[in-house]
Amino acid sequence: MNSKKITILGIESSCDDTSAAIIRDGVILSNVVASQKVHEQYGGVVPELASRAHQQNIIPVVDAAINNAGIAKTEISAVAFTRGPGLLGSLLVGTSFAKGFSLATNIPLIDVNHLQGHVLALFINEKGIDFNPPKFPFLCLLVSGGNSQIILVRNHLNMEVIGQTIDDAAGEAFDKCAKVMGLPYPGGPHVDRLAKTGDPLKFEFSRPRIQGLDYSFSGLKTNFLYFLRDSLKENKNFIEENLNDLCASIQYTIVEILLSKLKRAAKETGIKEITIAGGVSANSGLRNALKQNAAKYRWNLVIPKFEYTMDNAAMIAITGYYKYLNDEFVGQNVVPFARTQL
Ligand code: KG4
Repeated sequence: MNSKKITILGIESSCDDTSAAIIRDGVILSNVVASQKVHEQYGGVVPELASRAHQQNIIPVVDAAINNAGIAKTEISAVAFTRGPGLLGSLLVGTSFAKGFSLATNIPLIDVNHLQGHVLALFINEKGIDFNPPKFPFLCLLVSGGNSQIILVRNHLNMEVIGQTIDDAAGEAFDKCAKVMGLPYPGGPHVDRLAKTGDPLKFEFSRPRIQGLDYSFSGLKTNFLYFLRDSLKENKNFIEENLNDLCASIQYTIVEILLSKLKRAAKETGIKEITIAGGVSANSGLRNALKQNAAKYRWNLVIPKFEYTMDNAAMIAITGYYKYLNDEFVGQNVVPFARTQL
């Protein structure tokens, strides 16, 4: 039996976080994330600025990941990088760096789908902490700034999207509603915080009527915008006077929309192993609603640790680990994809 340890360097640069991580035999040794503050003043990610910041960050971030892991570069078995989906200029920085690293150290290169990474974040094992990953097959509600999907996961490398948004993502709905209320970017965490002391039933917003397991959030966003516009005509202090209730009500509506399709997916597939992934899975309203539904429908609910729900390289490294075990490598001619499916 080959007892050689498998050590993967993961690199993530799909949007506005530059991240590098080291995973050894499925156990995390380090995960360094450099978030880009430069976008806050623009109320959203500016692609050109993101690529430039990735270029500045990538070498110190990888260096820190290797140092924090307490390993030598020569111990790395393969380098895994996010190939897409994401911002092309940002992806190019991570892809080029990974290619260069692979060439210079003569180790294999592994491309990772960012969405698959979000799902496999559920399999990151931490030393000294109980490891309770979901059992196959399971359903994963993947909700982030760019995606809202229900994924049927058959094994680490076999996943099928069975429902997805036909327009905006749930994170986008949070961020855009937050923006029109004058909250900083990204607005999701601010809405979550303010919602805690608000009344979720104070205001009612429209729900989409979409067939099957798909989602839609653009109508809700427009409905929220028009509601605010009309309310402000009558009372120019409407937002300040109702901020907590507005946040609680919009959060409640988004969570209800997400849960309604997830419940339907669980019923249709008969699967009771339920997980969440992606940045929006940090939302406390969503987590609470999931726990309530888990108790009601006897789901086995697996919620990832907070730090692995946001964009990070540990999820890329763990995916790289499973692809390594399956001999799935790519050559130097690999190119990133801005848009790609699972
Ligand atoms: O997965 P992620 O880090 O990256 C992208 O997809 O870009 O997700 C970021 C998204 C943003 O829309 C952010 O507002 C949202 O996740 N988010 C939240 C919370 N924390 C992050 N949304 C609602 N409540 C939160 N606590």
